[in-house]
Amino acid sequence: MSEKVALIGSGNWGSAVARIIGGNVHNFDHFDREVKMWVFEEQVDGRSLIDVINTEHENIKYLPGIKLPENVVACPDLVKTCADATMLVFVVPHQFVSNVCKQLKGNVPSNCKAISLIKGVDVNEHGFQLISNMIQESLGIRSCVLSGANIATEVAEGRFCETTIGYRNKSDGELFRDIFHTPYFRVTIVEDVIGVELCGALKNIVAIGGGLVDGLKLGDNTKAAIIRIGLCEMRKFSQMFYKDVKDTTFFESCGVADLITTCAGGRNRKVAEAHVTTGKPFDQLEQEMLNGQKLQGTSTAKDMYNILSKKGLCHEFPLMTTIYRICYENLPPSRIVEDI
Ligand code: NAD
Ligand code: 13P
Repeated sequence: MSEKVALIGSGNWGSAVARIIGGNVHNFDHFDREVKMWVFEEQVDGRSLIDVINTEHENIKYLPGIKLPENVVACPDLVKTCADATMLVFVVPHQFVSNVCKQLKGNVPSNCKAISLIKGVDVNEHGFQLISNMIQESLGIRSCVLSGANIATEVAEGRFCETTIGYRNKSDGELFRDIFHTPYFRVTIVEDVIGVELCGALKNIVAIGGGLVDGLKLGDNTKAAIIRIGLCEMRKFSQMFYKDVKDTTFFESCGVADLITTCAGGRNRKVAEAHVTTGKPFDQLEQEMLNGQKLQGTSTAKDMYNILSKKGLCHEFPLMTTIYRICYENLPPSRIVEDI
C-alpha cells in the first residue's frame, strides 16, 4: 500500500523535518515521493514565502541557509494539503493547532495516521488537553508523538542527535520511524505517547528557568539544579495526571536529553535570559528576538499554573509555579532560587 505524507507546518522545526522526510520517502517503495507542506502564507521582503520555497527550495524566513528537497511542495491551502494524505505530521506552534484541527475536521481520509511534533498542550474551558488527544478526537484518527533533544538548526545541518517516538499502536510507531530515522537523527520508539508528549511540553517551562539562571549569572551548578528539580516536577506532574506514564520515558531523548539541550541552546532559554538582562516583558522580547518564531514556555507555564492552582497543587510544584509568577506576576527573577 502506498503511503502519502503531508506536513502541517513549516516553521523552524517544520522546515528541518521537511528536509528529513523529503529525503527518506525515496528510501522505501511504500511512500509516495511527493510531500506536501502546508505553509501559513506571508510576504517576506515583498515575495510570497510559498513561491520562494517552491522555486528556491529554501524557507528563507524560518530556516535560512538550508536547502529543502525538491519533492517537498509548499501549499497555501490546509485542506488540500491533507486531502490525499495517509500520514499527517503536525508541526505548528501549539497556539495554532486547535484552529488547524477545526479546519481539518471531516476533511481527512479515514485511513490517515498522525504524529504530533508539537511541544505544548491545549487549554480550553474544560481544562487542558494533550495535542495528540485533540488530533485523535477531532479527526477520528490515531496519533503518535515525536519529541527529543532536537534544536532545529542543528538537526537541519545534519549533526547527530536522538529523538523519541511515542506510540499506542506499534505499527504506527514503526511506520513513522521510517520517515524520520536517519544515521544522524536516530529514532527510538516507545509505548508511551503521553509521557513523550508531556516531556516535550513541560521542558519548555523548565527552559525558561534555565534562561533566568543564565541572565542572573548564577552559574552551572544552579543551572544543573534547575534541570534536576524540573525533571522531578515533570515526572511528578505527568504521573499525577496520567498514572501509566513510564519512568523510563524520562531517560529517553524526549526527557532528560531535551531538558539539557533546551536549557543550553533553545529559544525559551534565550528569551528568558534577555528578560533578566533587559527587564523587558516576554511577549515584547518574543517579537524582537525571534523573527516570527514562537515562544512556547511562557504560555505553557500559564496553562500549567491554571491547572495546579485550580486543584490546590501549586505548593507541590514550586519550580513551575515560580516560573509562572516571574513571567506573569512581575516576581523578580531572583525568586527562581529563593522560592523553590
Ligand atoms: P516556529 O516557532 O518557527 O513558528 C512559526 C510558524 O508559525 C511559522 O511557520 C508561521 O508561519 C506559523 N504561524 C504563524 N501564525 C500562524 C497562524 N495563525 N496559524 C498557523 N501557523 C502560523 O515553529 P517551529 O519551530 O516549527 O515549532 C513548531 C513546534 O515544534 C512547536 O511546538 C515547537 O515547540 C516544536 N519544536 C521546535 C523545535 C525548534 O528547534 N524550533 C524543535 C523541536 C520541537
Ligand atoms: P525552544 O523552543 O526553546 O527553542 O526548544 C526547542 C526544542 O524543543 C529543542 O528540542
